[in-house]
Amino acid sequence: MKPFEPVCVPDSDTVARWRSDFPILRERVRGAPLVYLDNGATTQKPSAVIDAERAYYEHMNANVHRGVHHLSQCATDAYEAARARIARFVNAARAEEIVYVRGTTEAINLVAQSYLRPLAKPGDEILISAMEHHSNIVPWQLLCEQTSAVLKVVPIDDSGTLDVDAYVRMLGERTRMVSIAHVSNALGTVNPVARLIEIAHARGVPVLVDGAQAIAHLPVDVRALDCDFYAFSGHKVYGPTGIGALYARADKLEAMPPWQGGGDMIRSVTFEKTDYNAIPWKFEAGTPNICGAIALAVALDYVSAIGADTIGAHEADLLAYATGAMRAVPHLRLIGTAHEKAAIVSFVLDHVHAHDVGTILDHQGVAVRAGHHCAMPVMQRYGVPATVRASFALYNTRAEVDALVEGIARVHEVFGQ
Ligand code: ALA
Repeated sequence: MKPFEPVCVPDSDTVARWRSDFPILRERVRGAPLVYLDNGATTQKPSAVIDAERAYYEHMNANVHRGVHHLSQCATDAYEAARARIARFVNAARAEEIVYVRGTTEAINLVAQSYLRPLAKPGDEILISAMEHHSNIVPWQLLCEQTSAVLKVVPIDDSGTLDVDAYVRMLGERTRMVSIAHVSNALGTVNPVARLIEIAHARGVPVLVDGAQAIAHLPVDVRALDCDFYAFSGHKVYGPTGIGALYARADKLEAMPPWQGGGDMIRSVTFEKTDYNAIPWKFEAGTPNICGAIALAVALDYVSAIGADTIGAHEADLLAYATGAMRAVPHLRLIGTAHEKAAIVSFVLDHVHAHDVGTILDHQGVAVRAGHHCAMPVMQRYGVPATVRASFALYNTRAEVDALVEGIARVHEVFGQ
């Protein structure tokens, strides 16, 4: 990772300027101004991204890699230029190391099925952590069913911090793969992925990092991390849904067989034999989400223009402010208090189900996620059915944290606490 450079927390005028880039933030919900605190689920889109989508369909729409006509060439150029911009954003060595996917989930399934399935033998182990999203559990369980490999889960402590000593102990002779969240979606924990990768590599074990919750909030440098695979979704980083990226080291991609057959992933086809395309197109069967890819690159440019460090400083300030405010709320328990955290605050209220909290907050225009956050094992670890989660983004403000706290006071009123 980059050496630490202190960055000032941006002032309120700066944040107000960023907010004005996001048209949806001017919406009102049930008569109240929208307070959007569900960024872990999906982020809102700046005008630059919305305009890019419109411009694509108004001026460029055509299929890629297939036509000699002008529009097809323009679409292909823009689609491939977007790949190069995505590669630069995560500091990949080559654009060919970026495979377009629908999102993080598809990326992890691709790695499980194309990278590990041909290698996995009965009894081989895949190491994940107790804080994973279902997307980083179920693809490995499917693989275990297919190959008789075994899923091993590194525990977390009560604060939601990974037990690194246990990780070291559990990395054994049979470990074939480590797959770990950069940031936990349910707890906000930031895992020490660079260190985990170094430890795994010392034992010859490749590592996939699930970057879904990190990509919009932390600087991501795949070469500094030295990860083998890094997966993320466009919609979590101010881009469109249905598009994401898998970074994979070129040597890994070269060695992997395709996982879906169809158009674009071939060089030549006869009924007897098909020769596959070069990387990364070998993994991109069918007409892709061309517009999404182009708009994703625009979203990443938007983030780069502000700077990951500046966003990080702002969100760290929001997290500290929100954590302090929440600790002062009676009958509230924070779930996830790791020292290294991204701007996610998960909590439960005594005697009130998270869904009721979410519904009452919604009546005040405050959008949070309430539920298991696609991380049921995390809920089981803490003995709760669900939590309420406020997850912050670059456009959120301290005033919105205040609105959340006022909303919770209203919950207490309704439930007579
Ligand atoms: N993974 C998304 C979330 O955490 C949907 O809300």
